[in-house]
Amino acid sequence: MALVTTTEMFKKAYDGGYAVGAFNVNNMEIVQGITEAAGELKSPVILQVSKGARAYANHTYLVKLVEAAIIENPDIPIALHLDHGDTFELCKSCIDGGFTSVMIDASSKPFEENIALTKQVVEYAHAHGKVVEAELGTLAGIEDEVQVEHGQESYTRPEEVEEFVDRTGCDSLAIAIGTSHGAYKFTADQCTRNADGILVPPPLRFDVLEECIKRLPGFPIVLHGSSSVPQEFVKMVNDNGGSMPDAVGIPEEQLRKAASLAVCKINIDSDIRLALTGTIRKYFNEHPDHFDPRQYLKPARAAVKEIVAHKIKNVLGSDGKA
Ligand code: G3H
Ligand code: 13P
Ligand code: ZN
Repeated sequence: MALVTTTEMFKKAYDGGYAVGAFNVNNMEIVQGITEAAGELKSPVILQVSKGARAYANHTYLVKLVEAAIIENPDIPIALHLDHGDTFELCKSCIDGGFTSVMIDASSKPFEENIALTKQVVEYAHAHGKVVEAELGTLAGIEDEVQVEHGQESYTRPEEVEEFVDRTGCDSLAIAIGTSHGAYKFTADQCTRNADGILVPPPLRFDVLEECIKRLPGFPIVLHGSSSVPQEFVKMVNDNGGSMPDAVGIPEEQLRKAASLAVCKINIDSDIRLALTGTIRKYFNEHPDHFDPRQYLKPARAAVKEIVAHKIKNVLGSDGKA
């Protein structure tokens, strides 16, 4: 199967009450871990590349790694998506350079400017057979170079979504309902603590999601900032020389619920980083004399595969949907 756009994926996900995972890729081991899991579970998957990933690994290397993954996993649909594109030029470069989908994230701009830039990207993308994700509302955390402090985030205003989608022609819409980027999604003040002292975050705003769904029937919704920050990996990091106090994510059952509604794409990056880093830290701690990168990257890649498989089966519900 060649690289696909997300159109068919989202239609099936919407109708089937599941979501497709969009996992950030930065190197070969991450591409392999994700696509091996998706391939074995017969799940569609979106591989997404941020501006930072492109600067780190180089556009061509990433595209070629994804092409290799397609050859190795011929039975599943794979989309290649630009995550958080911030300019028309960046989106154009990815469209021209083999991506099947781009996000234009003009969510930090005023409404009219967001519409104008999104529309410009949509016109170019559609003329080239590609699709566009846009965003309304702002998430806390770091989106490439844009950092939004906790307290400065704003939920999507449901009364704006119809006009935005109508006027831009975008193919999917990312909304802000309380998720945020990174491994510290909430401050301790925003949470309560359970009996083990672990932070319990405030629930997602399903009322906002449901209002958006009512106004955009049949339209695919996207959730960014949807890592769950598994405490076993936080502990693995902390037990092996790391320091990630009070890292906290979105509870999996809330993401499962969102996936059963109109949320067709769920973005996960931080959990992959945690699985990879926790595993490497533990390996170094246990094998201080090893220095062959294959020795520690092998279990790290296996950890990526395992966490992605877990997400596909238990959070997204996309297994068997290829
Ligand atoms: O939303 C941000 C993603 O986690 C990508 O992060 O810009 O550091 O590659 P990055
Ligand atoms: P996390 O930081 O929760 O993994 O979110 C990733 C994301 O939204 C990428 O666009
Ligand atoms: Zn994001």
